[in-house]
Amino acid sequence: MTLFDRVFGGNDAVYGLTEAAIDGAIAQYGEDAAVSFPDTAYSLPCYYAVTGSKVTNLKELKAALGVVKTLMTREKRLNDAFMSGVATALCAEFIEVLKYMNGAKPYEEPCYGHLADAIIRELGVPLVTGDIPGVAVILGSAPSTEEAVELVKSYQAQGCLVTLVGGVIDQCVEAGLNMGNAVRIVPLGKDVTAVIHVVSVALRAALIFGNVTPGDAGALMKYTMDRVPAFVNAFKPLDDVIVACGAGAIALGFPVVTNETENIFRVPKSLIVQEDVSKFNATSIEARDIKIKVTKIDIPVSFASAFEGEIIRRGDMQVEFDGSRVDCFELVEAKDASEVEDHKIEVIGPDFDEFEVGSKHSIGYVVEVAGKSMQADFEPVFERKFHNYLNCIEGVMHTGQRDMIRIRVSKNAFDAGFRAKHIGEVLYARIKNEFDAVVDKCQVKVITDPELCTKMRHETAIPLFDKRDDRLATLTDESVDVYYSCIMCQAFSPSHVCVVTPERLGLCGAVSWLDAKATNELDPQGPCQVITKEKPIDERIGEYEDVNEAVKLYSQGALEEVSLYSIMEKPMTSCGCFECICGIEPFSNGVVITNREYAGMTPLGMTFSELASMTGGGVQTPGFMGHGKHFISSKKFMKAEGGIERIVWMPKELKESVAERLNETAKDLYGIDNFTDMIGDETIAEDPETLLAFLTEKGHPALGMDPMM
Ligand code: SF4
Ligand code: NI
Ligand code: NI
Repeated sequence: MTLFDRVFGGNDAVYGLTEAAIDGAIAQYGEDAAVSFPDTAYSLPCYYAVTGSKVTNLKELKAALGVVKTLMTREKRLNDAFMSGVATALCAEFIEVLKYMNGAKPYEEPCYGHLADAIIRELGVPLVTGDIPGVAVILGSAPSTEEAVELVKSYQAQGCLVTLVGGVIDQCVEAGLNMGNAVRIVPLGKDVTAVIHVVSVALRAALIFGNVTPGDAGALMKYTMDRVPAFVNAFKPLDDVIVACGAGAIALGFPVVTNETENIFRVPKSLIVQEDVSKFNATSIEARDIKIKVTKIDIPVSFASAFEGEIIRRGDMQVEFDGSRVDCFELVEAKDASEVEDHKIEVIGPDFDEFEVGSKHSIGYVVEVAGKSMQADFEPVFERKFHNYLNCIEGVMHTGQRDMIRIRVSKNAFDAGFRAKHIGEVLYARIKNEFDAVVDKCQVKVITDPELCTKMRHETAIPLFDKRDDRLATLTDESVDVYYSCIMCQAFSPSHVCVVTPERLGLCGAVSWLDAKATNELDPQGPCQVITKEKPIDERIGEYEDVNEAVKLYSQGALEEVSLYSIMEKPMTSCGCFECICGIEPFSNGVVITNREYAGMTPLGMTFSELASMTGGGVQTPGFMGHGKHFISSKKFMKAEGGIERIVWMPKELKESVAERLNETAKDLYGIDNFTDMIGDETIAEDPETLLAFLTEKGHPALGMDPMM
């Protein structure tokens, strides 16, 4: 048998199954029955991405199968094999979507099956920053449970997203491995067709972040090849169906590594035989050209971004530090070089051994840094990273910031030997690693002495936070000489540029003007560049000649003109990782804002994910804009259209979280008290009529404003 025979045979077999499954479904439900995956704006995302058509019911699905058939040419050329691989993948998608017919929930714990658009959007940022350096797809059963777990953990330790299909899932369950999206181990399903759910992630990434036109199969494959760092590990025995799926993976640019030696064909860099499973990791990483960030830190537990989302339950915790109950704080202070001894880690107060299991205590830690180019403005930038640093420790959970932090240390981490000084080790290592351009020396004090925590919180930390807030409050777009570009997301969204100003942070919410400034000074050739603002064109919408020039340069000509303050005229583009999305609501002359965490409906008749699919990909979409949460209370929010007075609806939780600052802005700008009381939410209205009645009753100012379109 040749490779072609195997691919074609596997493809034919799956095609036959698919046809039978569709006919069976039509017999059962009728051809008008609706068919789609849940929580996606793309119906059958893979079929949509490849062909540009959205399947909505069984009749169309049957017709789509006819389209798939046209890919199944049988000449013995490489391209025929690849296309048959793609056809196999599409058939797998059809088989999988049928499992969701009639609102069924075909997957149960630990398996995920289809992944929601929301999860893909969450993956955007870490894929861009390299925090997720790769996406492993592990298929089949490893020779032993130990080897399965070892392989999965090796990728997890590198920060890779690991997806599992088939027997390896049972092996990981048997070994008691902690799995789930939060720790980046995602079991998809036990049938081989479940592999389509990770393909679906890659293809939706191309649509969401890459602005690939659905149906442009060439651009799609180029995007996945260049920008989605996925690869497949397939355990023997490989049947023809798996081989055909593998051809599909290779067509997308994803190399396949297998320990199968019989009846297999090697294709350099694409289909690789590696008999030694313990070398799968190294072979895959090399084949896909993945760069792993080395983070060797002297602590007794693992440190990897894969642990960032790990949750430590009350029953599993050894000790807890809770800033909402007792005095806690975290702080970075720039010091004179003579005051800092590099890598000095000091613990002041009792260590974790002296605390009762499950008890609550005070903690404070101060990272003191010195360096010739260090500036006080960088302190909060470093400090904001602590959350990420401490969460990456296996068995440590951190929430909050400043003096409102909470930290849990698990029993497992404690048993492995994790103690107070290791917090210092982690902070030291990460700060030195990430900010080496400005930090020459760094020392850490970890304070668990309750009296000292109280004293330092009130006498050192709070006054410093207040001082910083005052500085931030004086930072306006007018008070600074330059803005910054950010192109961090271009790894994923090639034509997107954020223009970051003091009053308009990056749409991901993670890059403020100060962050961008620090990034620029730390890495002058890096993603954030200085943009001057000396040649205003139109102050009303915030358009500048020099900003336009910069945007044109950094978008490689894709974008020529951009305004800073308008949602209608030349609005800023979105990559895909926005915290919030804002869209116009024509009945009230206002705008509706919704956020990533809110899965429910908005009065625009669209959910976050549906709204998000209308923008993104680095193109201008007047009437819609992605933005950061903080921007909502900015005086520059849609200033050209009248500003925050236009906001008519937000999810309740979002509204509450921005209320204080938003109300302050409304008072300042328009003299309105408690503005958020006039803004609807899902408990008030989910449709435009009810919303309008509410706004009328409240006398919302948007009703009296000019229509926006
Ligand atoms: Fe991406 Fe913009 Fe955030 Fe930079 S500021 S990381 S480009 S969303
Ligand atoms: Ni953790
Ligand atoms: Ni982005």
